[in-house]
This record gives sequence, C-alpha cells and structure tokens, in this order.
Amino acid sequence: MTELTTVVHDASEIVVGPDENEAIERHENAALAVVDGRVAAVGPTETVTDEYPPGNATHAIDADGRSVLPGFVDSHTHGLFAGDRSDEFAAKLRGKEYQEILAEGGGILRTVRAVREASDEQLRSNLLGHLDTMLAHGTTTVEIKSGYGLDTETELRMLDVIQRADEIHPVDVVATFMGAHAVPEGTDAEAYTERVVDDQLPAVADQGIAEFCDVFCEEGVFSVAQSRRVLEAGMEAGLTPKVHAEEFVRLGGAQLAADLGAASADHLLHANDDDRVALAEAGVTPVLLPGTAFSLGAEYADARAFLDEGGSVAVATDFNPNCHSQSMGFAIALACVGMGMTPAEALLAGTHGGARALDRAGESGSLRKDAPADVAIVDAPSHVHVPYNFGVNTVKTVLKNGEPVHGEGES
Ligand code: NIG
Ligand code: FE
Repeated sequence: MTELTTVVHDASEIVVGPDENEAIERHENAALAVVDGRVAAVGPTETVTDEYPPGNATHAIDADGRSVLPGFVDSHTHGLFAGDRSDEFAAKLRGKEYQEILAEGGGILRTVRAVREASDEQLRSNLLGHLDTMLAHGTTTVEIKSGYGLDTETELRMLDVIQRADEIHPVDVVATFMGAHAVPEGTDAEAYTERVVDDQLPAVADQGIAEFCDVFCEEGVFSVAQSRRVLEAGMEAGLTPKVHAEEFVRLGGAQLAADLGAASADHLLHANDDDRVALAEAGVTPVLLPGTAFSLGAEYADARAFLDEGGSVAVATDFNPNCHSQSMGFAIALACVGMGMTPAEALLAGTHGGARALDRAGESGSLRKDAPADVAIVDAPSHVHVPYNFGVNTVKTVLKNGEPVHGEGES
C-alpha cells in the first residue's frame, strides 16, 4: 500500500535543483506530490492535483503563492559543543587574531575543555537545541564534526551523541570524525598525529558512526604530510576524506584533497587557480563558508573563480563557537553579497552543492522525482527573497520526507 503523504499546491514557484547545465530548474504556479515520503510529481498545480488530489493526501498544504525549495543541506558544521566563546568574538573585533587566541589555549582548545567536562546529557541537549534552530531555518540535512574531544574517549562520546541526535531529530545528521582538529595541550602535532592514527581511528572505525574524516590542514596546526597520514588511515578505515584547506594561508590542503579524491575541500580563502583546477579535475566539491570570513572580518573566498572553473560549489554555515550562526539563509545572503554569487547559484550551492559535498547528490538537496521530499517553504514569492531579506528567517514551513516537521501542519 502506498500513501499519498502530502500535496503542496499553488506555489508561486517550486525549485527542483540544477538542470544539466548547472542552471536553476524551477516551475512556476506549481504543485508537488509526495508518495511514501518521496517526490512523486512536480509541475503545474492543475496537472499535479488532477493526478494527486490534495483531498486524498494525509497533508494538504496550500502554499498560497509562496516559493517552495529543497531543504537546505548544511555540509560543514561543528554544531556539537559546550561553553560560550562570545567574549572571543568581542576580542577579535578589537583586533585579536583567531590563531593568536588558539595559541594561547583559547579558541578550539577552550571548547575542548568545556566538552570534556560536559555530561552526555548536556551535550545532547545542546545539540538538539541547535538542530531545532537549524530546522526552523530550513535545514533538513546537516553534517556535524567531532573534534572537540581530541582524545579517544571524548571523540567517541561526541560521535555517539551525534548518532543519537540523528535517531530522534527530524534533521538528518551526518557524522564526521575530526580528531585532527587541533593539537591538544601538552603534546605536539607529530606525536598527536600518531595518536589520531594509532588510537583514535581504529576505535572510530569499530564504533561505526562516522562517515567522513576531516583534518585542519593549516600552518601551526597539521602539516600537509600529517594531514595525509590521518586521511589515508581514515580511508583504510572506510572513512571518506574532507579537508579544512587554505583558510589562513595557502599550505597545500586543496592539492591534498584533489590527490586523495576527497569529498570536499573546505574554506579555501587562499586557494589559487592551480588549486581550483586540481579540485575541479578531481571532482572534489569546494565548500565555501562565507560566515567564517564575515565573523573573522577576513576576505571572502573567490566564489566566482570556482564557478568559472565549471564545477559546482557548496555553501555552508560552518556553525561553531567561532562562527555562531545556524542560518543557511544568512550564509546564502553572504554568498551573494560577499562572494558575488547570484541568488540562484547560492541557493543551489546550499542545497544540491551541499549534498555533493556529503556524497548525497540525487538523494538530498533536490526535489527531483523520487528524491526524499525534504522541503522548505519560504514566506515570499521567490527564492531570491532568501538572500534579499537578509538577517530574517524567511522559512515558514519545513517538510522532512513529506511530513510537516516545522510550521504549518506540524503535528
Ligand atoms: O572550520 N578552522 C577550524 N575549525 C573551525 C573552527 C572551530 C572553532 O573555532 O571552534 C572552522 O572554522
Ligand atoms: Fe570547520
């Protein structure tokens, strides 16, 4: 028995995803039918509702001239943490450097101390709160990294909390192991790399929760050679590589990501043309994080140069204690104003691009036939209003697998 889960009708537009030329594919005056949680039909309201009458659906939603989008896929966050670093935000505004704070034992290392001290219950409740905020802002799939434990026990604990949150929360949560996020106090990068490879990775593989392995390849953190050791060991353990690359200096993380065939290379503020070509040729998705540049007062990544290279890019929030925004709408606005992307490019980067960065293209981030019906309905007539109405949450209703999970019709 199949179930007509939901019909959304009378939308001003429904954005399906990218067409074969990576341009936006959208229908005007459109409807969407969901059968068994997946998109069964999308097209003109009359055609779709003839075949799938809203009266027969478990949920009938009159979009009433609003824009209907794929739910956002936030492909880079450090959304599980404890503690409060708002004072560092204020210090950075007075001119203190991010890496200076880290070198003094603040920044990531301060969050590590807070996470080690937090109970599982505190961690779980922090994460679920952030997931609620993300969902209310239209995010239906999010990647969350470990990396505030920096010892085997706490890294496993973080991944366990991430998995449990995924089980009970409507947002799909994808787990990334990032034991190589910083060098813990009392050791050095070389010795700690050995610990990540010899102690943490085998335990993470046994635990079986993490899907990706990420490393902070950066001057003063992990060298290219150390990053390679971690990611190759991760690959042997079945984890797909991702790289924090060229964030503060151009060190070689992008070339490493290309060499290993990583799912993504992220940040890329200092990437050059050689890096862009290498990533495009290797099919590695560049993940651009304009919120980080915004909150650090740094220069944005050169999104136009990446787009001109022909591949698709992802835009994500990088939500973490240093970049404290769960809003994909805000990231998309910054992608437009700070990085020169068009609203359509930024929207595709925050949906389909994010899915690519998580090896889920076709499965998430589009409303193509047979895709899971993960939907954000915005309180405006077109997707352009998402960045145009910056600083405001334009998302009104969210569906996950066709079920209303936020806003109208939520049960
Ligand atoms: O992606 N750059 C390294 N990691 C994070 C920041 C994490 C933190 O400051 O807590 C990032 O921006
Ligand atoms: Fe990050």
